[in-house]
Amino acid sequence: MCGIVGYLGHREAYPIIIEGLKRLEYRGYDSAGIALFDGTNLNISKTKGKVADLENCVEKQISKNGNLGIGHTRWATHGVPNDVNSHPHTSNSGNLAIIHNGIIENYDSLKKELISRGYSFKSDTDTEVLINLIEDVKKKEGLKIGKAVQIALNQVVGAYAIAVVDKNSPEEIIIARLGSPLAIGIGDNEFFIASDASPFIEYTKNAIYLEDEEMAIIKKGKDIKIRKIKDDSLVDPYVQQLQINLEQIEKSGFDHFMLKEIYEQPKAINDTYRGRLLREEAIIKMAGVEDNMKKFLNANRIIIVACGTSWHAGLVAEYIFEDLARIPVEVEYASEFRYRNPVITEKDIVIAISQSGETADTLAAIKLAKSRGAFVFGVCNVVGSSIARETDAGAYTHAGPEIGVASTKAFTTQITVLTLIALRLARAKGTISSSDFRHYLLELEMIPKKVEKALQADAHIKEIADIYKNVSNFLYLGRGYNFPVALEGALKLKEISYIHAEGYPAAEMKHGPIALIDENMPIVVIATKTGHYDKVVSNIQEIKSRKGKIIGVVTEGDITVRELADHIIEVPDTLESLSPLLTTIPLQLLSYYIAVMLGKNVDQPRNLAKSVTVE
Ligand code: M6R
Repeated sequence: MCGIVGYLGHREAYPIIIEGLKRLEYRGYDSAGIALFDGTNLNISKTKGKVADLENCVEKQISKNGNLGIGHTRWATHGVPNDVNSHPHTSNSGNLAIIHNGIIENYDSLKKELISRGYSFKSDTDTEVLINLIEDVKKKEGLKIGKAVQIALNQVVGAYAIAVVDKNSPEEIIIARLGSPLAIGIGDNEFFIASDASPFIEYTKNAIYLEDEEMAIIKKGKDIKIRKIKDDSLVDPYVQQLQINLEQIEKSGFDHFMLKEIYEQPKAINDTYRGRLLREEAIIKMAGVEDNMKKFLNANRIIIVACGTSWHAGLVAEYIFEDLARIPVEVEYASEFRYRNPVITEKDIVIAISQSGETADTLAAIKLAKSRGAFVFGVCNVVGSSIARETDAGAYTHAGPEIGVASTKAFTTQITVLTLIALRLARAKGTISSSDFRHYLLELEMIPKKVEKALQADAHIKEIADIYKNVSNFLYLGRGYNFPVALEGALKLKEISYIHAEGYPAAEMKHGPIALIDENMPIVVIATKTGHYDKVVSNIQEIKSRKGKIIGVVTEGDITVRELADHIIEVPDTLESLSPLLTTIPLQLLSYYIAVMLGKNVDQPRNLAKSVTVE
């Protein structure tokens, strides 16, 4: 969580940092701040609120001049979001300033130690402790700032991506990473730093992603020096060519990123299977799977670890892996898995699913599984992310940048990748016939067109949203492959509209949630033609007898549910196992429109952040 940006070069740093912070606001947006070095002074402005609020403060408070600066957009961990707790934080002398993404776990003992040595603190943050620790080391040992940062970080327990500037070294920024991402953009005699590459893609396509336990000393007009934090040894920098472009991270005429990303799904799904699904040759080719086929075929079971929406994609995968490839699957919340003492053997395959590739709990679950000898396969969207690097092998989803905090295209592309893997393994194991396999490939190839068709219900869904926007509770029901879709629909509504919603397997309704049903309760029921249709229709009857309001998501041409439901939303017909790729579309649109109608900040819902890099 938290976004950090920095600039050192020949341009004015201010506009680059402000624009960069806006692009990183998805990472956290409860306060923001900036430090600019104007040649003499380190000018700092910070405030509770969004980057737009920071712009207003800067206008009133400080000079915008300077070719060196650092900026921060925060998701609070230690200390409430207020002006004082906002970053940058300065050391007691006022000479050093820091921005930080992460948590210093031993901050309390360090703070006590520093207080005993005469340091005082203005904020409640762990970050202010770190900058004073750096100052203390620097002063005590008469060191340069880079060395002081290195020594101080060796005393720290926790996670961080930091950028530190020193008034007395005005042409230098020190950055370091452990557990939180940090990229360096290398321009022509200028450097950019950021939590991801989006703040600098219009300036340079050359980037270095710092690895865990590395720090960089960035000096104007000099080559970057990357060092190991532990022993100060030099590391050879690896410069990558960035693949993203500006258009991908702009709204392109949509009111919100979420809506843009919902509408991008036909392309995102197509991009995800392109080059992997070769229908005419009747094969699926995925390097990460081919290279490790033996391991997959010999696996006793697959354990899927993930959080949030990615966990829901894992639940869909459980059905499809067991159904097609006949491999037992367990799906675990990464946050629970990492703190259990799970039974993991070398014959287990762990699949970690994560859009951002930075989720702290998922990363920790991967490390645990690896330490117990399991082979870990990653399904990530962000290329080069921590999870992509930490896993033994993997497959990217190719959804393109997902900026709206509510995950949409990440979900459908994760399901696409997982379906491809299940099909490939089923073929290799002989658990699917050649004709069924071909049929699957054909159906999968038609999904993008069918998603386009499902999106055409947009205006109708908007009308339904208008009717139910003021209710306090929603229920989502689905069975089989569409049970995880019900969970996902409920999560989408909760996180962006703040309406309470529950997802349930339709048949479980009678074991409790049915008590909630009255004439005020809208219930979204996924009742597609394939997959326990008759059973779901019976569940709908049960709701109807209790006067619940039924919104049925049905297959085109459905008659039975049309007669029972208050509203129906049609999706094209497909195989049951592929239906989540279609049924999830109306649920995304429904929550989107309800949230918009309620005036909520759809792309940046309260208390949330896109990339959850704290546990
Ligand atoms: O980046 P990840 O896929 O690992 O993120 C996991 C969850 O934090 C994420 O899916 C979250 O639940 C979304 N806000 C849901 O829309």
